Amino acid sequence: MRAYDIIYKKREGQKLNKEELGFLINGYVEGEIPDYQMSAWAMAVYFQGMDAEETANLTMLMAESGDMIDLSPIEGIKVDKHSTGGVGDTTTLVLAPLVASAGIPVAKMSGRGLGHTGGTIDKLESIPSFNTSLDRDKFFDNVNQHGIAVVGQTGNLTPADKKLYTLRDVTATVESIPLIASSIMSKKLAGGADAIVLDVKTGNGAFMKDFEKAKKLAKAMVAIGKEVGRDTTAYITDMNQPLGNAVGNALEVKEAIKTLKGEGPEDLTELCIELGAGMLQLAGKIKDIEEGKEILRENLKNGKALAKFSEMISAQGGNANVIEDLSLLPIADATFEVKAEKDGYISEIKALDVGLSAMILGAGRENKESVIDLAAGLEIKKKISDPVSKGDTLAVLHYNECNDLEEAKQKLLEAFTITAEKKDKKELIYEIIK
Ligand code: URA
Ligand code: CA
Repeated sequence: MRAYDIIYKKREGQKLNKEELGFLINGYVEGEIPDYQMSAWAMAVYFQGMDAEETANLTMLMAESGDMIDLSPIEGIKVDKHSTGGVGDTTTLVLAPLVASAGIPVAKMSGRGLGHTGGTIDKLESIPSFNTSLDRDKFFDNVNQHGIAVVGQTGNLTPADKKLYTLRDVTATVESIPLIASSIMSKKLAGGADAIVLDVKTGNGAFMKDFEKAKKLAKAMVAIGKEVGRDTTAYITDMNQPLGNAVGNALEVKEAIKTLKGEGPEDLTELCIELGAGMLQLAGKIKDIEEGKEILRENLKNGKALAKFSEMISAQGGNANVIEDLSLLPIADATFEVKAEKDGYISEIKALDVGLSAMILGAGRENKESVIDLAAGLEIKKKISDPVSKGDTLAVLHYNECNDLEEAKQKLLEAFTITAEKKDKKELIYEIIK
């Protein structure tokens, strides 16, 4: 077999079989196939696409390029959740204890943040002495004993995806639906999930800004799940404004605790109930979605979800007193209120600019080596369709030392559009694809 012939075949719009894809992927990981040939192939895929079977084969090959985690020591059906990124997306912090409180095992591996998107592991590390690096046995034990553990990724997961994603990033081949779908799903399959709930964000702050493209991506990922025998449900959800009000690590933990007490922002709460019910359904715990939502709403009211979060914190060595005493979380030295410059209604909030503002304050990493400030970030006080008067606070910035407070203020102010006409809120969930 020769890489040249495989590239040629794809360029001509033909379907590649598993042997051909394996020759490319394995050869690339081993350093036998050079970047320039992989780039040519990725560009051919960009223009010619791949069908469902081809995409599923590529996904499996990428998943199998490194460690495949075996979650079978954990009892029950393991449902994982993945979000395609967004701004101030606090869902995992709420969703993990919420669904665990309904009796499904949560064995979650999460990542750190890069750029304006936050990572669950960074957020959890703002809880004093919380340990996100449990070894494999302790991770399994915690899930079996407490029904939940959230840890950072370890080991050699999907090296083929790491290498290919880096290459796509510099060859204008990121935006290919089959390549994105296989990239995301390969990581989920290597992580060992039996079933997967996907939160595909769309809107100005999302990776997939356009709804139709988000839908295509959702369909491609659900199709991969079907081909490889892992039940997958995708939710296409709104990211035209940050989710909830908090953006920043400790601030989002605070928001998650409030939400688990049933006192959280409506959008964050609703999304967690929807996705959570989807997870319960895939786990075979409920007869219909309504029953799932009912159970989860109840667990936010009766304290079970919050108690589960507390149990998880203790089991991972953290100080669970944070639940009652939020002042135990890192707190910034200074705050600054950004005020509205005119009267009207909030008609748009550019989530990306809000994320960048939080990053400038120190909440995010500009590059992999940056050190984040766990206390930094911002709280949004107005959301789309809210009325405002000149001088009302739009957001509160939290910072310690900030070299560019002026720039952070400016970005935040630019994020908000105020108009005379009231604009309706967008729907939170656009479509569910099974
Ligand atoms: N996120 C991923 O993990 N992979 C892609 O290809 C794009 C976004
Ligand atoms: Ca939030």
